[in-house]
Amino acid sequence: MLSLTPEIVLTGIKPTGTPHLGNWVGAIRPAVALSHDPRRRALYFIADYHALTGLKNAEELKTYTYSVAAAWIALGLDPERVIFYRQSDIPEVFELAWVLACFTPKGLMNRAHAYKAAIQKNQEAGESDLDAGVNMGLYTYPILMAADILLMNARAVPVGSDQQQHVEIARDIAQYVNRQYRAEIFTLPEALIDEQGAVIPGLDGRKMSKSYRNTIPIFAPPEELRKLVFRIATDSSRPGEPKDPEASTIFQLYRLLATPEETAAFRRAYEAGIAWKDAKEALYALLEERLRDPRARYQELVQNRAALDRIFEAGATAAREIAGDTLKRVRQAVGIAR
Ligand code: TRP
Repeated sequence: MLSLTPEIVLTGIKPTGTPHLGNWVGAIRPAVALSHDPRRRALYFIADYHALTGLKNAEELKTYTYSVAAAWIALGLDPERVIFYRQSDIPEVFELAWVLACFTPKGLMNRAHAYKAAIQKNQEAGESDLDAGVNMGLYTYPILMAADILLMNARAVPVGSDQQQHVEIARDIAQYVNRQYRAEIFTLPEALIDEQGAVIPGLDGRKMSKSYRNTIPIFAPPEELRKLVFRIATDSSRPGEPKDPEASTIFQLYRLLATPEETAAFRRAYEAGIAWKDAKEALYALLEERLRDPRARYQELVQNRAALDRIFEAGATAAREIAGDTLKRVRQAVGIAR
C-alpha cells in the first residue's frame, strides 16, 4: 500500500568548524537535494549540545553555531521547506535521552567507535587510566544522538560512514523500547550513506578532513582559494605529457562541481597533456564561479544573527510539535503519567 505520510529525513550538523568543500559535496549538497524530494519531510538541525562534548570555548561554540547555519542556508537549504532548528532549543530531546539511557546496555556504549578510539589512544600513550580524558558526554554521545533521531520519527538519516554505527545504535535502542512495551513507539531509523562523501580528496590527496589540515574552506576569499588550489599535490609530469585524470586530485575535485560536459572537456585536456599550472587555474576558475554567489549570501547572513535566530525559532516551533507527540507516547508507554 502506498503511504501518504512523508518519510522523515533528519540529520544533525555538529558546529565544530568552518565547512569545507568535502562537507559541501559529501553532506550539505546531498542533504539539500533530499529536502526537495516531495515524498519526504526534511528536519535538519545544528547539534550544539553534541559539540559541547569536545568544544569548551563559549565564543567558538556560539560562532560556529551561527556560521554553520549560515553556510547551509547560503548553499541552498531553504528554511521554508526544511524544519531547521537548534538542538538546544528542543528540551524534549534531553528528556527522551534519559528514557533511552535507561534502555541502553552499558556494553553498547563501550563498543561505540568514538569511545573505543579514545581508549585506544590512552593505551598507546601508556596511560594507566584508560578512561582518562573521556567525559560522560562523549561516552553517552550515541544516546543523545538516538534521542535526536527517535524523537522526530526519522526514518532516513543521511550521514557520513563514520556515523553509521551511531544510527545503528539508535535503531537498536528503539527496538529495545518497542519490544519491552510490545508497541511501535519508535520508528526504526536507517542511515543513508552518500558514497561520494567518502572519496573527496584534500590538498595532499588524502581524504579531505579537518584533522588532516588539508581542506579547502568553502567561503575562503578568492585570493586564499587560489592559493590553496595551487597547493594541491601533483606528480612531476611535465606540460605536454598526457596525464591520468583518475589519479589527479585536481581532476577529482573539478568533477565534483562541473557539468558532465565540462568534465569531458577537462578529461580531454588531461589526455592532451595540460600543464599542472593550467589545470589548477581551471579548477580555481570553476570553484570561484560556483562559490561566488553562496559566499556573498553567507557573508551577509553570518552577520545577521537576529535573522538566524528567527529561523531557528520557527524551526523549533515546528520541531517541538512533533517532539511533543512522541514524548507523550513515550511517557504513556513507560508509565510516567501526566
Ligand atoms: N554525530 C553527528 C556528527 O558528528 C551529528 C549528529 C548529532 C547527528 N545528532 C545527530 C547526525 C542525529 C544525524 C542524526 O556528525
